[in-house]
Amino acid sequence: MTAPGLDTASAESLLAFWRDAGVDACFGDAPVDRTHVEPPPAVKAVAKATAAITPVVDASSALAEARRLAAGAETLEALGQAIAAFEGCALRGLGARQAVFSRGNPEAEVLIVGEGPGAEEDERGQPFVGKAGKLLDRMLAEAGLEGRVFITNTVFWRPPGNRTPTPAEQAVCAPFVERAFALLKPRAVLLVGAAASKAVLGADEGIMKLRGQWREWRLAEGGVSAPTLPTLHPAFLLRQPMAKRQAWADMLSLAARLDQKAGH
Ligand code: URA
Repeated sequence: MTAPGLDTASAESLLAFWRDAGVDACFGDAPVDRTHVEPPPAVKAVAKATAAITPVVDASSALAEARRLAAGAETLEALGQAIAAFEGCALRGLGARQAVFSRGNPEAEVLIVGEGPGAEEDERGQPFVGKAGKLLDRMLAEAGLEGRVFITNTVFWRPPGNRTPTPAEQAVCAPFVERAFALLKPRAVLLVGAAASKAVLGADEGIMKLRGQWREWRLAEGGVSAPTLPTLHPAFLLRQPMAKRQAWADMLSLAARLDQKAGH
């Protein structure tokens, strides 16, 4: 394309003149940000929709509200209702259908804490009811722990796309997890996967280092503590069946601990 009033030969000759004069780049009048990559339209649409519905949550008042609601719950059932009423977790506004709190025996000896609800859990309102949950149940039954566990997660709303919950999302839900621990007073805790292990124990190590190592989970208030065992997540075991051997060793370690006469 040539500029109006300039034929090709004249344009080439003008460009050659400028090049010989040392001009080797052209700039428009307006700056152009070439570092900005335009996201595909679908990604833009999702981000726009998500931004529109993400509630603006003030972290410190949300945490204070979580603590207040959790402290007011005198039973695990009341705790479930308090969680359902809590509006301070940002995940709530990101497409989750409902709050997913717990499954299992409210008098259990073992508290199991997983990462967060997936698609099936979101639909059915109970933790670990999908494929990973079925594997967890099979392992618990084989280890003689069926009916002896109470199961929850570090967050109670499904993270979009099953992503790992962020530390901020886990932190605002932590008062409820701690209250579940305080109300249940389990003899042992099983932390399922890296996200739960790191959130509950505040550990920096990877799950391959943490798993199988008993630690003490002690609440700052209320004097509640219990021996706590990080293990591999059953969703990981479904992808890496070779790792089942290690998870099984952890399950047997948990069963043996419970069967020790002296408790903990
Ligand atoms: N994975 C988890 O960590 N928790 C669930 O409830 C389901 C899958």
